[in-house]
Amino acid sequence: MAEATVPELPGDDLRWRVAGTAKREWFWESGGMSVANIGTMLSIIGTSFADYPRALEFGCGCGRILLHMRQIAMKTELFGVDIDPEAIAWAQSHIPWVKCSVNDGLPPLNFPDGYFDLIFNQSVFTHLDENYQDAWLAELVRVTRPGGTLVLSVSGDHPFSQLVKAHQDAGADPANLLEKYRSKGIVFIEDDSWVGGPFPDFYHSTFHAPWYVFAHWSKYFDIKAYVTRGSLDFQDYLLLRRREGPAQLQGADQAAQPLPVASVAKRAALTPRRSAKRLWRELKYKLRGY
Ligand SMILES: C[S@@+](CC[C@H](N)C(=O)[O-])C[C@H]1O[C@@H](n2cnc3c(N)ncnc32)[C@H](O)[C@@H]1O
Repeated sequence: MAEATVPELPGDDLRWRVAGTAKREWFWESGGMSVANIGTMLSIIGTSFADYPRALEFGCGCGRILLHMRQIAMKTELFGVDIDPEAIAWAQSHIPWVKCSVNDGLPPLNFPDGYFDLIFNQSVFTHLDENYQDAWLAELVRVTRPGGTLVLSVSGDHPFSQLVKAHQDAGADPANLLEKYRSKGIVFIEDDSWVGGPFPDFYHSTFHAPWYVFAHWSKYFDIKAYVTRGSLDFQDYLLLRRREGPAQLQGADQAAQPLPVASVAKRAALTPRRSAKRLWRELKYKLRGY
């Protein structure tokens, strides 16, 4: 890491909260990569940040991504929100080109209808159960202008396959996980390594099968693109468009057909289950905290 170019970074604890590692290099370099990843997603529809006068990072933490958006802020008015007051306090005092504020775990946000042209995030829906996700998807519809764009990440097949492999490596049986992912398309793991951590009780680990995202999220948005491992070569990135007209849901889980899960699904080892909490401690680094 070229220290001369690196500004003051948040402390170990705040870096760990958003990245699952306190490594300074990873925090700084991944932030730049995330901005590039979001830019790539916007380019799919022939746009760049400069085409969006007002943008929000939903779940910005202490600003891993926003720290790299000083130039972008010259053309785009930037906002960041998060439930973590300490992370937001750091961002408010160190990232003056962004207006950051704290929001509650559930909607509403303190912004008018249709306020944002662009909303983006990384690894927020990866921590919410389905009810919280539905509440937030509806709220993001409300605060995005008709025709506006969203770039949101989910933990899809790749993180899920790593989870399964890590279970197998640890001698645990992933059969239940696999069955849930296959049949329901969304797996929310409540007894994960975030239990007793710095976040509220609702904050855990969620994995989305792509077919579920297409079937369910299309009620809220037009899905313009789904890029596997588009976010930091790990999570999947979605490019969404807020429909024209008043905020309302469309369709009801159209064609919600479970599809086969790739490769690792077949290798579920039938070994005794370990305590879920112990297993999650072992998996923490393999899953990069996400
Ligand atoms: C894995 S961190 C990612 C932070 C940031 N997006 C990044 O990539 O560096 C997840 C973040 O989501 C935030 N978060 C979780 N639930 C939220 C909610 N309901 N509203 C806003 N932020 C939320 C957490 O406080 C945390 O900062």
